[in-house]
Amino acid sequence: MKIALGSDHGGYQLKENLKKYLKELKVEYQDFGCNSENPVDYPDVGFKIAIEVKNKNYDKGILICGTGVGMSIVANKIKGIRASLCHDVFSARYAREHNDANILTLGGRVIGSGLAKEIVKVWLNTDFSGEERHLKRLNKIKQEEDKIYK
Ligand code: RB5
Repeated sequence: MKIALGSDHGGYQLKENLKKYLKELKVEYQDFGCNSENPVDYPDVGFKIAIEVKNKNYDKGILICGTGVGMSIVANKIKGIRASLCHDVFSARYAREHNDANILTLGGRVIGSGLAKEIVKVWLNTDFSGEERHLKRLNKIKQEEDKIYK
């Protein structure tokens, strides 16, 4: 599994902590920045990673800003992206099992790295259930996307 990882300045510290954790888990990742706590605009990093995931250059993405909200808004603009802002383990599990989320967003100013690591572990290790009722709902999203993004 190959992960595209990125943050703005608000998520920089958490991103650096999660990089160490991903190494421990032996999960391959590419860091798309930012590279310091100097202010950068979250759409610049968020769109880049969402497009990489949409193009299937990476299996999944993890995007971190101050709240996780900006990154989630940005990533969900891209066709085929199902970004999930998860600040608890329950949501992380079901974002994968029910929603087949392909991007996780986190708020570096909201949660500590201990909880973030648990969320990342569960989110990465949970498969989409593939159940008919969830497929039907995801298909409805896809159908609307196909109409909107011609
Ligand atoms: C940056 O100050 C902050 O607005 C950003 O990290 C993020 O929280 C936006 O949603």
